[in-house]
Amino acid sequence: MIESLMTHSSIRRYKNEPVQPDVLHTIIRAGQHASTANGVQAYSVIHVTDEEKKKQLAELSKNPTQFNTAGAVLILCMDFYRIKEAARQAGKDVSFDLAENLLVATTDVALFAQNIAVAAESLGFGICYIGGVRNAPEEISELLELPEGVAPMYGLTIGVPDEEREVKPRFPIEAVMHENTYHTKKYDELIPAYDEAMKDYYQTRGENQKSQTWSQSMAAFLGEPRRPYMKDFLQKRGFDFK
Ligand SMILES: Cc1cc2nc3c(=O)[nH]c(=O)nc-3n(C[C@H](O)[C@H](O)[C@H](O)COP(=O)(O)O)c2cc1C
Repeated sequence: MIESLMTHSSIRRYKNEPVQPDVLHTIIRAGQHASTANGVQAYSVIHVTDEEKKKQLAELSKNPTQFNTAGAVLILCMDFYRIKEAARQAGKDVSFDLAENLLVATTDVALFAQNIAVAAESLGFGICYIGGVRNAPEEISELLELPEGVAPMYGLTIGVPDEEREVKPRFPIEAVMHENTYHTKKYDELIPAYDEAMKDYYQTRGENQKSQTWSQSMAAFLGEPRRPYMKDFLQKRGFDFK
């Protein structure tokens, strides 16, 4: 398990081989056994098998290769619809508009997704998350006929890898692990050292080589507002920040 986790790398191109339904069900059952806050299971997955819908997802998310070559296309959603429905059946009309509920659903769907990813990789498949789904959340919600309370978070493409795995360097452990209190001083050295490691990786990897450092990428990542429409979108779906 640990070896599989430590050699993970996102796979963006797959061989033209479907993931068999029984195998996919096993993978998703493994996903469902992830921890879940209070047992709420605030997630759903849409398995997209319709070719036309896959094409539209590829286009709307701007990640065509993953969607067009995957053996299985999944859209992972936060889901408070089923929970609200359960409360209704129990005789109560509830809302889920607290920021806390958004955190519950975000965490739940991430754990569900990551269990699915790890289970798929344990069987030799490659996977890629597609946050690009949030490039067009309204259109994708319509395409998949998602009810209120359900919001698409990311795609997860699964398939037999058709490209080399190249493990992307992570920070050394001392950058992410603190003892007793949070130590800010160490980043004076750890960030430049990681920039060097990432520069080497970016310049020597097989595809999409670049000379930017990690710090420069992060400055660009936060330097302009990303998907600022998400707040309105989530509020329309019934999620809120109260
Ligand atoms: C929530 C999430 C969204 C992501 N969205 C995309 C995406 O839209 N397209 C893509 O090619 N990779 C996407 N990725 C993959 C990341 O780019 C990748 O995990 C990261 O660069 C680390 O590389 P590695 O997974 O190969 O170790 C996403 C990953 C996560 C966790």
